[in-house]
Amino acid sequence: MGAFIDNESSNPKLSPYSHAAGYIKCERTDLIACSDIRTDVMKIAGDTYNIQEKNQYTDYKKMILETKPDIVSVATQPEQRAEVVIFAANNGAKAIYAEKAMSASIEDCYEMYDACIKNNVSFNLGTNRRYDSGFNSMTNLIKEESLGKLKTLVAYCTGSLFNMGSHNFDLLLKLNSESKVTSVTANLGEFIWDSELKELKSDPIGQGVIEFENGVKAYAFNISNKTKWDAICENGVVSAIDNGGNFIVHTKNKKYELDVEKKSSTLSLIYDLVRSIDDSRPHLGGIKVAVASTEIIFGFIQSHITHSQVTFPYKPLGINLNRNFAPRMPKYNK
Ligand SMILES: NC(=O)c1ccc[n+]([C@@H]2O[C@H](COP(=O)([O-])OP(=O)(O)OC[C@H]3O[C@@H](n4cnc5c(N)ncnc54)[C@H](O)[C@@H]3O)[C@@H](O)[C@H]2O)c1
Repeated sequence: MGAFIDNESSNPKLSPYSHAAGYIKCERTDLIACSDIRTDVMKIAGDTYNIQEKNQYTDYKKMILETKPDIVSVATQPEQRAEVVIFAANNGAKAIYAEKAMSASIEDCYEMYDACIKNNVSFNLGTNRRYDSGFNSMTNLIKEESLGKLKTLVAYCTGSLFNMGSHNFDLLLKLNSESKVTSVTANLGEFIWDSELKELKSDPIGQGVIEFENGVKAYAFNISNKTKWDAICENGVVSAIDNGGNFIVHTKNKKYELDVEKKSSTLSLIYDLVRSIDDSRPHLGGIKVAVASTEIIFGFIQSHITHSQVTFPYKPLGINLNRNFAPRMPKYNK
């Protein structure tokens, strides 16, 4: 996701998709440095994006201290996210683009929040649907209430909590106008867990129910491998199908498609972050909504472990994601 995912994606409308390709395309940003502990990956990323050799680092701390970037992107796995985000926030970054899932524990997530708030750092989480033109239109249609009040949200393919649930929970919050979560009830599938260390050894697939302060309920299912979402309102339903490629509205008397011009959500996220630096406030994203979706992930896990409904705000149980995870080799060419 940092530099090479564009070579894996077959959908040209997603391009630019990687962080690096996004910064190159955005006329408000210059890509000045890169870091990876895999020297081969870092060198090819650096050469691909014309980053001077002296600005290719194996030590991200050195990179941040020496190049003093305005924006730091963190496209590691969640296990390494908090340490990099907190270091960047405490050492001069004005903004951070952090990949989802935000963190490997809810305690880390709160420390990231504190570091960003204390240092007035803008923060966008890479939950790309939040910045997608189609999902913006779907959200606006729900908000304007021409279909009546929103009653229920359904996600048909929640997936594993950190990898895909992070996207899904963020989207459910967006579609429900960021209403506060009051409780979650969930159960997870295969749960590889070291109960003594409180460590999750894999990213669990889960499903559950989310209740919101405004009375809306969201059902995060795994009943289809098609990535689809329904927003059921009093007088009609708006559905995102084909992983948000198309948006269909059903009312009693008519069915129509939303007219949406697809744009790169990565690029929209970067523009949104730059705008947040410009006027020191979040726009589409921000750290608060990032924390809110992360709380749902750990709320689901706590609900599974305690076999009970988890009422928000909940007391964290000290649970960590800690996989024995070797990164894949990136695809360097199309
Ligand atoms: N938003 C999206 O649509 C989207 C798509 C794909 C992946 N992702 C997310 O992006 C993240 C990365 O995914 P990926 O598939 O690129 O993972 P990856 O494991 O292939 O890449 C992570 C890279 O981080 C490097 N790294 C680890 N620790 C580091 C450190 N301390 N300093 C510098 N580099 C370090 C690794 O060497 C590796 O090259 C994940 O959290 C994933 O969920 C998001």
